[in-house]
Amino acid sequence: MYHVAMAAMDDESMGTTASTATRQQGASRNGAILVTGAGGEMGHGLLQALAEDKAAREARGESSPAIVAIDLRDLPADHRKLCDESFTGDVCDARLLERMLSSFEVGEIYHLAALLSTRSEFVPETAHSVNVGGTLNLLRLAAEESRTHGSAVRFFFPSSIAAYGLRDLESKRAAGAVAEDSFLHPHTMYGCNKVSGENLGHYYENHYRKLASDRIERPIDFRSIRFPGIISADTVPSGGTSDYGPEMLHAAARGEAYACFVRPDARIPFMTMPEAVEAIRRIMSAPKDRLSRNVYNVQSFNPSAEEFLAEVRKHFPQADTGFVPDEARQAIVDSWPEACDDAAAARDWGWRPEYDLQSAFSEYLVPRIRERYEGS
Ligand code: SER
Repeated sequence: MYHVAMAAMDDESMGTTASTATRQQGASRNGAILVTGAGGEMGHGLLQALAEDKAAREARGESSPAIVAIDLRDLPADHRKLCDESFTGDVCDARLLERMLSSFEVGEIYHLAALLSTRSEFVPETAHSVNVGGTLNLLRLAAEESRTHGSAVRFFFPSSIAAYGLRDLESKRAAGAVAEDSFLHPHTMYGCNKVSGENLGHYYENHYRKLASDRIERPIDFRSIRFPGIISADTVPSGGTSDYGPEMLHAAARGEAYACFVRPDARIPFMTMPEAVEAIRRIMSAPKDRLSRNVYNVQSFNPSAEEFLAEVRKHFPQADTGFVPDEARQAIVDSWPEACDDAAAARDWGWRPEYDLQSAFSEYLVPRIRERYEGS
């Protein structure tokens, strides 16, 4: 059965490798959960959650798939110890994926690897190759793996508020909380890539190889969340446009001056990293028949940059923060909604925020950040 599955991948783009030959001899592979971009901000929190779930299952005497990571760079030691195997390389590299597949039978995928919104605007075509090309590789891998399992491969795709494109500030203010199916004309390459990934996920789930005689029904089970800006106490993002929030906070905690690159009145939704990871766990464990759509909004709070700074100053009154708006990055923020309607996520898979702005700071961000920078 596996021989048939891989034959479909052995075209000129995938190449025929030694590992293919191994699989064709029927070598058995270990079941695995695959996390791409595992070395990034979200990867750390997600690997932790997956490792906890695995340990809990094993403690109950149940078997558990291996946790396998892929990242462009060698994983930091604290990420590495959370997985059973890690591969260093590019999700666009078919041979790397082949090498991973020679040892592992993938049943679930968290495809986090991507270039973020600000970085993507400097190299839009490269961003497209990585963000869409990588997603396509993983979707195809998932669809072909499902032939082996005889069941759908569950696929998580982190989308973003960058999928939205409000025409200008006036439209943004008039729109208020946007629902999932409106304003999907993003102004950034990253946003275009996210919309594309969402559409491809829908295609692979419902229509993949529509005309092929050997097509299988629903090879993947595609689930996606459009995340707002995410704030972690443990890491600072890089290359994103919502980065001004976490950058402001971490700079204040480190006692460093910070020039915020958006206007004081800039407003987009945010959430904390633990809430983002919990949201992924929830949507991935929801019964499929409860999901009325593939892609869901979520958000926890949506302060203006000025309100965010006021909260920072409550805890770090010495914060040396000024506003030096960068017009181009501001324009990106102005094209993103000021709030997202997350009623579908609440109804279908029980999404609810853990924090509001004040409690996010007082219960999660500030205690953890103090511990990190002050060791107290
Ligand atoms: N936070 C991301 C960024 O700013 C959007 O998903 O690029």
